[in-house]
Amino acid sequence: MKKVLVIGASGQIGTELIVGLRSRFGNESIIASDLQDQPKEALKNGPYEKLDIMDDQALRAIVKKHEVSEIYLLAALLSATAEKNPDFAWKLNMEGLFHVLNLAKEGIIKKIFWPSSIAVFGPTTPSDQTPQFTIMEPTTVYGISKLAGERWCEYYAKQFNVDVRSIRYPGLISYTSLPGGGTTDYAVDIFYSANRNEAYNCFLSADTALPMMYMEDAINATISLMEAPAESVKIRSSYNLGGISFTPAEIFNEIKKHRPAFEITYAPDFRQKIADSWPSSIDDSRAKTDWGWTASYDLEKMVKIMLDNVLAN
Ligand code: NAD
Ligand code: SER
Repeated sequence: MKKVLVIGASGQIGTELIVGLRSRFGNESIIASDLQDQPKEALKNGPYEKLDIMDDQALRAIVKKHEVSEIYLLAALLSATAEKNPDFAWKLNMEGLFHVLNLAKEGIIKKIFWPSSIAVFGPTTPSDQTPQFTIMEPTTVYGISKLAGERWCEYYAKQFNVDVRSIRYPGLISYTSLPGGGTTDYAVDIFYSANRNEAYNCFLSADTALPMMYMEDAINATISLMEAPAESVKIRSSYNLGGISFTPAEIFNEIKKHRPAFEITYAPDFRQKIADSWPSSIDDSRAKTDWGWTASYDLEKMVKIMLDNVLAN
């Protein structure tokens, strides 16, 4: 039986990735782990371990105990939080990755998923339909850590034959778990205001276009990439993934079709500068040709499902 360890499983992605993995491979095959002593409700239907990824010995003990063969490493500080604590962000985002890469280099585990981000791009990158291979001069500590991580992943793949796979996620939109401190979080927050019948005060300007994606598409992409034959995964740094590009004004207008009384104001803060340095849309043709990626959600469909579910339970 394949044994998979998900590190940082209580977060926005982990909560839904655990559901996706357990439904495909069985509850007992998927070990959730995070910093908390006890699992959150959504993770209770299978094994859970308390794990701080900075503790290499604890990681090795859990891998040995469960005979883990694959790791999804999700623990990281996201863009906005990382700017407030750059030293720690660099330490967490890099050391955690090395702990996992070295387990594969030593032959203890067989496969790794590690997420990168659109934050690897910067103000000198072509912003429209950003190509897979292009100028990369990120200006945030988060983006610098993700770009360095991509280079190390490719290095371990080429030098040590490590099977590491990665996606540059756009901003992810979901309703089961709140986002963890990113610049794209507004596109989730806005639905909470809409469903509480409150006006939304947006921290980005009306015309800031960013690449985004509904979580179900991101989870499907992640599992497809991990299940693809190794020879199809030709890029070992990280794959561009596109999804839906929109501005705060465009998502507001789509929500307003369902909530006509909804209002928005704009008060850009420090996150505006981060958003301005990122692409507005992504060319993900390599993910399509190499391992068959396709998106299922457009803006209209995503807004409908978010309005139906945010605060519904
Ligand atoms: P999140 O902040 O919601 O979750 C991260 C989880 O990691 C949290 O549950 C946290 O408790 C845990 N964690 C933090 N420090 C830890 C440690 N030392 N040891 C173990 N666990 C620890 O983040 P997310 O949105 O789920 O993102 C997961 C990954 O995907 C990150 O690498 C992030 O950079 C990347 N990513 C996310 C997005 C997005 O829009 N959500 C976009 C691009 C990339
Ligand atoms: N959603 C993430 C962030 O805003 C992108 O990596 O930090």
